[in-house]
Amino acid sequence: MRILGIETSCDETGIAVYDTEAGLLAHRLHSQIEIHAIYGGVVPELASRDHVRYVRPLVDQTLAAAGMTARDLDGIGYTTGPGLLGALLVGASFAKTLAAALGIPALGIHHMEGHLLAPLMETPDLPLPMVALLVSGGHTQLIEMTAVGQYRLLGTTLDDAAGEAFDKTAKLLELGYPGGPQIARVAEAGDPRRFQFARPMTDRPGLDFSFSGLKTQVLTQARTAVAADGLTDQVVADLAASFQAAVVETLVIKCQRALDSTGARCLVMSGGVSANRALRTALSDLEQHGIRVAYPSPAFCTDNGAMIAHAAALRMVTGQQDPDLVVRIRPRWPLVELESV
Ligand code: KG4
Ligand code: ZN
Repeated sequence: MRILGIETSCDETGIAVYDTEAGLLAHRLHSQIEIHAIYGGVVPELASRDHVRYVRPLVDQTLAAAGMTARDLDGIGYTTGPGLLGALLVGASFAKTLAAALGIPALGIHHMEGHLLAPLMETPDLPLPMVALLVSGGHTQLIEMTAVGQYRLLGTTLDDAAGEAFDKTAKLLELGYPGGPQIARVAEAGDPRRFQFARPMTDRPGLDFSFSGLKTQVLTQARTAVAADGLTDQVVADLAASFQAAVVETLVIKCQRALDSTGARCLVMSGGVSANRALRTALSDLEQHGIRVAYPSPAFCTDNGAMIAHAAALRMVTGQQDPDLVVRIRPRWPLVELESV
């Protein structure tokens, strides 16, 4: 089966074709970062309008790159949620209209399931059960996966998501948007031991997270620095490195705990923050303890169409499809409510 994937949940238009036999045939991405950067965050209405502008030409480009026409498609998967209401509506309406015109099935896909299954796109033979760390701009979750569609929530954030913590900390250090890549960039020249930030909620049992206090700790130290020598490039680099180290170590401790409590021997990581090099290096160290660790290549960590086409393919080969032509989206949608395959 050849499945077109359409991702429009936030600030990236992602389109891909995934073949259940041959794998990923082509993918294209249009990022809206430049549009939103001047506002310091995503402006939902601007996001919707930009998706309208790009979804059609990107589908044409992706099909051409795959050496296909729309008539060669066997199904269309699109992001139903969670995400921005208007942005989701653009992708969902486009997908369902095209599917109806072609007389092929469509299937709504959970954005976080797309992320969660993304490591399997390049490494399909990972052993189950596995623990998945989902770290994006809106989510920080530890999930036990026993099969495609069978997910148990082990832990989640009580306040800010990991990516959100990166974005807010970057904003207060005036590093720009999106903050994750900026913090990671300046942290390379910084000393991660200079500032002693907390490893939140690691001093008690449990698998939940809390990241909102970290940005306040960074702010307090930044103010102290301003009052002393000023916020020099070195202080900013040290703050970024110390903040990143705190987030990374906290995530690693909780992943280790999740593996211990479930007995799983495989860990996958996905979502925008999984592009973070310090986090990838730290989690790879678990391999020395016999744990199989996998994460997508950087292009498939942040939002993309390939992960949606891939998740849709895994479901559509079993016959799953939307029951009718009604355009349904779910801006809020807990992952554990998904139907198993
Ligand atoms: O998955 P994603 O592209 O969109 C959502 O579904 O949220 O994740 C975006 C998040 C942003 O918060 C961004 O700052 C963060 O991922 N991010 C990173 C890195 N690259 C993206 N955070 C830390 N280090 C990075 N290299
Ligand atoms: Zn995402």
